[in-house]
Amino acid sequence: MTRQNKKPLIAPSLLAANFAKLGEELAAVEAAGADWLHLDVMDGHFVPNITFGPLVVKALRPLTNMPIDVHLMIAPADPYITAFAEAGADHISVHPESGPHLHRTLQAIRGLGKKAGVVLNPATPVDSIAHVLDLADLIMVMTVNPGFGGQAFIASQLTKIAALRRMIDETGRDIVLQIDGGITAQTAPAVLAAGATCLIAGTAVFAAPDYAAAITAIRDAAAAADAG
Ligand code: DX5
Ligand code: ZN
Repeated sequence: MTRQNKKPLIAPSLLAANFAKLGEELAAVEAAGADWLHLDVMDGHFVPNITFGPLVVKALRPLTNMPIDVHLMIAPADPYITAFAEAGADHISVHPESGPHLHRTLQAIRGLGKKAGVVLNPATPVDSIAHVLDLADLIMVMTVNPGFGGQAFIASQLTKIAALRRMIDETGRDIVLQIDGGITAQTAPAVLAAGATCLIAGTAVFAAPDYAAAITAIRDAAAAADAG
């Protein structure tokens, strides 16, 4: 099966869930067919919002079999990598701007037995990761400025997604290409056409009345667009 025919992974972001009942929300998206659970860690310094740290990851870990995809929007990130790994994160992704030594950070994540990811802000060029692709298991493109859910999709990032698709294909490795921000059944087709393999969605899932219908709509959006 070619990548184009394969259904994308869907990773709901708990940022848009009801924080008074995170465990129930997690169970609900897992039952609704989510593939991964995306957790947004914010420090009020790297981004203008604060969420949660390793203790919450640790509390959620026993509640799910889904891989836990931790998106660190903190600076510095290095001092906290071990804590997130021990808390039960399966994937740990960092922004290049969160520290001076991205190569070392990715090595450290992998050294802890976790999948390592790099996240590109809308203004961050693809070149910033060209020389660390061998250490990346995941690459995430931000299609909003990080910090908040519910923002509008930034369409200028589609050319970046396509460029990263080419870079990944040249490696011959199966690096997951994730897109984060403003993903809906309406924005998903263009993102998938550009070569994404994993879609992160907060508002489009948790603000929907039916999580399963919302996840299916995003997952099948590309096929529906082709058919229509
Ligand atoms: C933003 C986060 C996203 C956010 C996406 O900084 O990284 O994961 O939850 O939210 P939506 O899907 O609402 O744009
Ligand atoms: Zn995120």
